[in-house]
Amino acid sequence: MTFEPQIPSWGNEYKNYLERLKSYHDWLCKTGINNGLISEKPLQYIWDEFIIHSLYFGKILQNIKNNDKNIYDLGTGGGIPGIPIALTNPNKLFTLVDISESRAFELQRLKNILNLENVEVLNKSADAVLTNNNTYISRCFISSKDVLKNIKQLKNVTYIVSSNGENLNENKEKFHVKQEKFTINSTNIRHIDVINVK
Ligand SMILES: C[S@@+](CC[C@H](N)C(=O)[O-])C[C@H]1O[C@@H](n2cnc3c(N)ncnc32)[C@H](O)[C@@H]1O
Repeated sequence: MTFEPQIPSWGNEYKNYLERLKSYHDWLCKTGINNGLISEKPLQYIWDEFIIHSLYFGKILQNIKNNDKNIYDLGTGGGIPGIPIALTNPNKLFTLVDISESRAFELQRLKNILNLENVEVLNKSADAVLTNNNTYISRCFISSKDVLKNIKQLKNVTYIVSSNGENLNENKEKFHVKQEKFTINSTNIRHIDVINVK
């Protein structure tokens, strides 16, 4: 099957970064698979589900407050969504957090390979970095309902999380939730929840 590094029309601004995104895609398809950071999948799947899905997190980040601060990617695995966002937002700092020592080690090597000065890697549990006044992102690490539980005691936190689009029935006095729906290619739709604790 042919591989097409497409970007949907909502992501036209990211086309300037295509070569850097393709370098990361290449790393995921080789080192990422060989070292168990991601499971073996077709090239197109890795592009659409990992790279394009991640870019939409970056698009959301452009429009939220706390936007000037460090962003934490919790349960980052092979750097998803943090690396594609960092590649396309060179002026913002991203901290990739994973509890797995071997994944953190490979991410540190990737940071050097891609010369990513706006990325740091933390080999810690996600719980250890959840604090007031911060912004968090996660893909396929935690459900939106568990995010609500984990941040309910915090203040002024934004958590952007991949979801299945289900209604969260959140406490509207405590939380503000915006549910985003977008395309990752010509046929597939994905969801991301933007959860704010007041
Ligand atoms: C299903 S993978 C998802 C990885 C990536 N976000 C993605 O979308 O492909 C979940 C990742 O979370 C990490 N993880 C599991 N428990 C964790 C914890 N308590 N704190 C931080 N990372 C954790 C695992 O090591 C793994 O890399």
